[in-house]
Amino acid sequence: MRGRTPRWRWLVAGGGALLAVGALGAALAWSLIFDSILASQLALTPSSRSYKEWVAPAVPLYFEIYLFNWTNAADFPAEKPILVELGPYRFREHRRHVNVTWHHNNDSLSYRTLRSWHYDPTSNGSLNDNITTLNVIAASAVFRSRFWGYFQQKGLSMGLAMFGQRVSVSKTARELLFDGYEDPLLDLAKSLPASTTGGAPPVDRFGWFYERNNSLDTDGFMEVTIGNSYGSLPGQILRWNHEDSLPFYGGKCSRLEGSVGEFLPRDLSEESRLTMFLPDLCRTVNMDYRSSGQMLGLNYHKYELSEGSFDNSSLSLSNTCFCGGACAWGGVMNVSACRFGSPTFVSLPHFLRADPALRAGVDGMKPDPEKHSFYFAVEPRLGIPVEVAARFQINVYLEPSPNVALYEHVPRMLFPVFWVQQRVTLDSNTAQELSVVRGARDWGATACAAAALLLAAVAALATCCPPHVNKKLHRLHDDLKHCCPSRIEFSDDQDKIKEDELKLNPM
Ligand SMILES: *[C@@H]1O[C@H](CO)[C@@H](O)[C@H](O)[C@H]1NC(C)=O
Ligand SMILES: *[C@@H]1O[C@H](CO)[C@@H](O)[C@H](O)[C@H]1NC(C)=O
Ligand SMILES: *[C@@H]1O[C@H](CO)[C@@H](O)[C@H](O)[C@H]1NC(C)=O
Ligand SMILES: *[C@@H]1O[C@H](CO)[C@@H](O)[C@H](O)[C@H]1NC(C)=O
Ligand SMILES: *[C@@H]1O[C@H](CO)[C@@H](O)[C@H](O)[C@H]1NC(C)=O
Ligand SMILES: *[C@@H]1O[C@H](CO)[C@@H](O)[C@H](O)[C@H]1NC(C)=O
Ligand SMILES: *[C@@H]1O[C@H](CO)[C@@H](O)[C@H](O)[C@H]1NC(C)=O
Repeated sequence: MRGRTPRWRWLVAGGGALLAVGALGAALAWSLIFDSILASQLALTPSSRSYKEWVAPAVPLYFEIYLFNWTNAADFPAEKPILVELGPYRFREHRRHVNVTWHHNNDSLSYRTLRSWHYDPTSNGSLNDNITTLNVIAASAVFRSRFWGYFQQKGLSMGLAMFGQRVSVSKTARELLFDGYEDPLLDLAKSLPASTTGGAPPVDRFGWFYERNNSLDTDGFMEVTIGNSYGSLPGQILRWNHEDSLPFYGGKCSRLEGSVGEFLPRDLSEESRLTMFLPDLCRTVNMDYRSSGQMLGLNYHKYELSEGSFDNSSLSLSNTCFCGGACAWGGVMNVSACRFGSPTFVSLPHFLRADPALRAGVDGMKPDPEKHSFYFAVEPRLGIPVEVAARFQINVYLEPSPNVALYEHVPRMLFPVFWVQQRVTLDSNTAQELSVVRGARDWGATACAAAALLLAAVAALATCCPPHVNKKLHRLHDDLKHCCPSRIEFSDDQDKIKEDELKLNPM
């Protein structure tokens, strides 16, 4: 043995060098390796981890509704409406993606969303609260009559009087939201040709969320990307209700694009914009960077619906094609076209970031960015949302109608009816996991590089260390050999033992 370099040293040196090269390679390609592992876990394939979370989210979801009680309705229009916010009326939401179908020919996934809501007793108020609000059925009927002739308008005016319609209604929260209420005008509408009702399906009751519970139609039929090829993101909208553009708007506004909310781009910067498709708005919006912070040990960038996001066109000319006629006020979105022509406008709660004239039209709007903004707080490297606050206010458009007595003197305004909020925060377990993943991404390359250095050092030491170290290593080697020769000598001798065993075996 003495006199030639023992084989174990060559093994150590060779193995060390090989591992060092491997580790160095991993260090250089780390972000690529990491991203492909992450992408495979995020892709919407039947076996991926994110699919399991996506198809039936385990995080508790709450849907909170604030209703505005109109306390001086009797004095309208002589007095400006005084609105008092009530709520939140809180509902636990269960959400499931159903009819999930993969289309491998074009890497897409189609599905519907089934949601159900359960009243939560932590609500601030009861579903039996008596609330006075705008009579939306009458307001819609009057709005629809705006291009009619004089006699038809007079006819509507008499009809409204005959059915005892007023500008306001008093109903329970239950009726206004999910249960709906009956109204003679709805029965009348059922007997009218579809052209006069804007193609809206005939309904027997009206409620803002009537027939939405357990409905497959609330969010519509979605087709999104799977994100299983390099550089592509899952969950980006391709088609909505079988259309690949929005039929309600012309030009650039008809473009259907963006994330449907669950999957966001990675490596976000302060200049990045989040492009989102929001079915409630029937459109794609851009969200802009607002601030940064830390939550549950994770850094985040907060992207918000900003002044320009659903402006008319005073701030952002590209929005003109969304106006659908007169570009009325800034910071509100005319969703009439996608709500069967009902005079509905969406804004941020309390007209936050909207034209100040809207706030001046009613009493009781107290916009507060803390409580009323719509944002995604996103871990910027991984593109994973840590907190989401989705908030909208529904408003009804009113304008004077000289031939309809009830609406002769109403001001031109947007009447706030209610606003909704959905907030989701990452739970601390997932946050911890993400911290680890984030750490792996940030430090993985460094760790591999360090390992490469260490292994290279070992390899170098084994082949060319100074004689006295060599001697010591030899002595150590021999000592160990004396203790338990056959175990340590894993070179020639061990092979021999194996041969002997093999020879013995057949006997
Ligand atoms: C809403 O306002 C009306 C009229 O002022 C009032 O009678 C009613 O009690 C209010 N509802 C609630 C729940 O406060
Ligand atoms: C979609 O899913 C619902 C509920 O799971 C089911 O009743 C319906 O038959 C499905 N439709 C199709 C086309 O698969
Ligand atoms: C993908 O292919 C399926 C049919 O296999 C089709 O129904 C679907 O509309 C296609 N989706 C897109 C976005 O082209
Ligand atoms: C929605 O439907 C479920 C039954 O599937 C019911 O238990 C629940 O009370 C309904 N929610 C509302 C708000 O009506
Ligand atoms: C509950 O509602 C009342 C008004 O009805 C309001 O004064 C109070 O601040 C609300 N409380 C919470 C916690 O929101
Ligand atoms: C609800 O409030 C309105 C206005 O205050 C009142 O006229 C009506 O009688 C009340 N309805 C019920 C069921 O209490
Ligand atoms: C809202 O849009 C609809 C259709 O897109 C249009 O008819 C209506 O005039 C618009 N409303 C206002 C106030 O501009």
